[in-house]
Amino acid sequence: MMARANPTLAMRPFLAADTPLLAEIFRASIAELGAEDYSDAQLDAWASAADDEAEFGGRLGGQITLIATLDGSAIGFASLKGADVIDMLYVHPAAAGQGAASMLLDALEKLAGARGATKINAEASDSAQDFFQKRGYVPMQRNTVLRGEEWLANTSMQKPLGGRQDAR
Ligand SMILES: CC(C)(COP(=O)(O)OP(=O)(O)OC[C@H]1O[C@@H](n2cnc3c(N)ncnc32)[C@H](O)[C@@H]1OP(=O)(O)O)[C@@H](O)C(=O)NCCC(=O)NCCS
Repeated sequence: MMARANPTLAMRPFLAADTPLLAEIFRASIAELGAEDYSDAQLDAWASAADDEAEFGGRLGGQITLIATLDGSAIGFASLKGADVIDMLYVHPAAAGQGAASMLLDALEKLAGARGATKINAEASDSAQDFFQKRGYVPMQRNTVLRGEEWLANTSMQKPLGGRQDAR
């Protein structure tokens, strides 16, 4: 295949068969993109959420989960829990910085709006806080959450979804 100057970003829905690949993306994303903000023990504890792949796949399948593809290959994913919570947002480090997470987040915000949400919430890792803040999310509260046997800091962030009001 010829190399292309502008690889094509696209999205598709999650299928159960994607679970092992998304578990790999999840682990690689945490290990590399989280390393500046968390200790090795904290990163391992965070990534252990994918150890039980059946449970991990069930979590993804129980939410609206979208997969980002680059030239057809899965490179990231995001999930919406209920009407208004971003539960997961992970991009493979080899594909970071190309707009995949922005595309996924835009799509989930639209789906949240379609579900009647007037605001959307995320518990942003310290590694993702600037990313969310640049996209209109406001820090509300610092948290310390237990993952396995490790305590990790994150931040509850919220963004108003103004589309409906603007359209009046
Ligand atoms: C946060 C994350 C999802 C961003 O994914 P991404 O596809 O690289 O994001 P995009 O390309 O859409 O946007 C890149 C933006 O994020 C910022 N960014 C954060 N980490 C980055 C990284 N390692 N590489 C490139 N950009 C990064 C850049 O400043 C850029 O901002 P700008 O476009 O406003 O200038 C990704 O870094 C990730 O998976 N992190 C680890 C897992 C995590 O913390 N997930 C969130 C759980 S709440």
